[in-house]
Amino acid sequence: MPRRPDDPSAVGLRDLPGLVKLHRAARDRRSLMAQPDLTYLFWEATLRCNLRCLHCGSACEATSPVRELTTGEVVDILRTIAADFDSRRIFVSVTGGEPLLRRDVEEVVAEMTRLGMRACVVTNGTLLDAARARSLHAAGMRTASVSVDGTRAAHEEVRGRGTYDPALAGLRAARAAGFEDVEAITCVRPGNLDALPALEAEVRRAGANLWRLITIDTMGRLAGAGDTPLWLGPAEARRLLDFVAARRRELARTGEPFRVQFSCGGFLGPRRDLAVRPAEGQCYAGLCVGSILCDGQVSACPSLPRSWAQGSALEHRFSRLWHTRFEAHRATGWRRTGACDGCGWFSTCMGGGLHERLAQPDSFCWVSRQSE
Ligand SMILES: C[S@@+](CC[C@H](N)C(=O)[O-])C[C@H]1O[C@@H](n2cnc3c(N)ncnc32)[C@H](O)[C@@H]1O
Ligand code: SF4
Ligand code: SF4
Repeated sequence: MPRRPDDPSAVGLRDLPGLVKLHRAARDRRSLMAQPDLTYLFWEATLRCNLRCLHCGSACEATSPVRELTTGEVVDILRTIAADFDSRRIFVSVTGGEPLLRRDVEEVVAEMTRLGMRACVVTNGTLLDAARARSLHAAGMRTASVSVDGTRAAHEEVRGRGTYDPALAGLRAARAAGFEDVEAITCVRPGNLDALPALEAEVRRAGANLWRLITIDTMGRLAGAGDTPLWLGPAEARRLLDFVAARRRELARTGEPFRVQFSCGGFLGPRRDLAVRPAEGQCYAGLCVGSILCDGQVSACPSLPRSWAQGSALEHRFSRLWHTRFEAHRATGWRRTGACDGCGWFSTCMGGGLHERLAQPDSFCWVSRQSE
């Protein structure tokens, strides 16, 4: 049967150089399964939040369901990590909840900097005023990521009234404070797809030089919500990926200092994958990515279910957990089941992104997601 022109699995001669890159990245991922190498760390600073986004993947509320690490406890864990790994190769993403609700983020980031780690914050922007941006920068942070989920109406539809101006002000504050990378992160859904060109103009005007587009997973507040209107159908998923690919081509042509990237854990097909992100774009949870959760549990990534945590850094040294646990993250057998059993792309994809596979077991495959 002839393939449709937009079939995500279609391969031709022109795809060969890209496929070679993807195979190399997959080979590297396989060697990381045998020999993990921690280079990316999340610190989930808190599960508290000052917003109640409809799609919140962490289901955050005003109070935390657990006892959160004190400043001293986080710093102690970071020190053991610096003693046991090459901290100059570790990039830490400070996330939440809303991390800036913690007044000690600067103190912890200053310690990360002292230990040789680089750090960024992922924030809803509402607390990233000029003073906070300056103090984070003074602590050594050089990257700030602010969530902006649409132009005003679309953003406020999921994030709440009055949240749009502060988010853009957060981008402006980070730029004014001297952050090298100021990133906007957008969760794309049917309700903001049309507004992406206008949103790009707004985040660029506010000082962003990076724009990461992601999609919404049915976890946290959306757990089990298979029929959510926030989910992109196949035609919408293709439109999003084609938009990102077109913007990347155009930005490469003009040489403008602005980068756009799609981000998800799975393989997108031979043509679209490299058109929307670098070859290393797939899921590295538990391979080079680890996390300190807000209560000290050690996980691969904060988007995974809590049941996937591997033990507490308050009871065991982080490096011991990293080197002796994470068995399922580093095994391929269980991934080659269900939809992935017999899939010709398995050696490139290795069964999709971990948190996506766990959050939506029937619809995690990004190749299928683009097919009607
Ligand atoms: C959990 S938030 C924590 C940081 C901060 N509170 C914020 O909203 O940016 C981290 C990122 O996850 C995104 N996110 C939230 N819920 C999600 C979901 N259900 N699926 C995918 N991404 C989600 C947010 O938009 C944000 O960019
Ligand atoms: S997505 Fe971020 S800002 Fe929104 S409720 Fe969750 S943690 Fe808070
Ligand atoms: S079926 Fe599985 S292995 Fe194949 S492309 Fe989809 S997620 Fe990847």
